[in-house]
Amino acid sequence: MSINKREELEKLKKEMQGDNSLPLRAGATQLVFGEGNPNTKVYFIGEGPGFNEDRLGRPFVGQAGKLLDNLLQSVNLKREDVYISNIVRFRPPENRDPLPEEIEAFRPYVDREIEIIDPKIIVTLGRFSMGKFLPNVKISQVHGKPRKISWHGREMVIIPMYHPAAALRAGAIMQQIREDFKIIPEVIKELEEENKKEDNSGEQMKLL
Ligand code: URA
Repeated sequence: MSINKREELEKLKKEMQGDNSLPLRAGATQLVFGEGNPNTKVYFIGEGPGFNEDRLGRPFVGQAGKLLDNLLQSVNLKREDVYISNIVRFRPPENRDPLPEEIEAFRPYVDREIEIIDPKIIVTLGRFSMGKFLPNVKISQVHGKPRKISWHGREMVIIPMYHPAAALRAGAIMQQIREDFKIIPEVIKELEEENKKEDNSGEQMKLL
């Protein structure tokens, strides 16, 4: 199974690299695809590549990425345990916000990536990725609050978080995001427990 997922993701990446209709390509160095464990049940999604991500071709490797690594570590998760991705995959000029039509152009690829990975938990980082799953909510009101949704016929839990870059800019958000991350292992445990109760096969679902 894992080989298939890796192969499918590699195919998707190649397709994106060859899709000249995708916006933001002209101003970027390279495509920044998602990375991590394709068999994870915990998928993180941010906004879009910044300067360092564009240079290295990997998501969350700059200052915000270092903070993300640290936040993961604070709840005993490792980057390699989860999958980390973005809503747009080329760097917006001067790191500006992605436009709605840019998000829409990348959407079919993001959707396919999620379908391949088939996560049980999606942690959204910032308001753009949150808006994909929870439209019409305010991040200041829902951050750190897990919500069960049905997405393309799949049951999943969305955990909206502030963006790590916002935490780097404001101390109050830093405190909040540190607090909010603590819910992630709790949701993982709850889903594993739920699954144990429902599943009589004796096989235990592990989320990581
Ligand atoms: N910010 C994001 O949203 N994504 C990255 O990959 C890096 C910074």
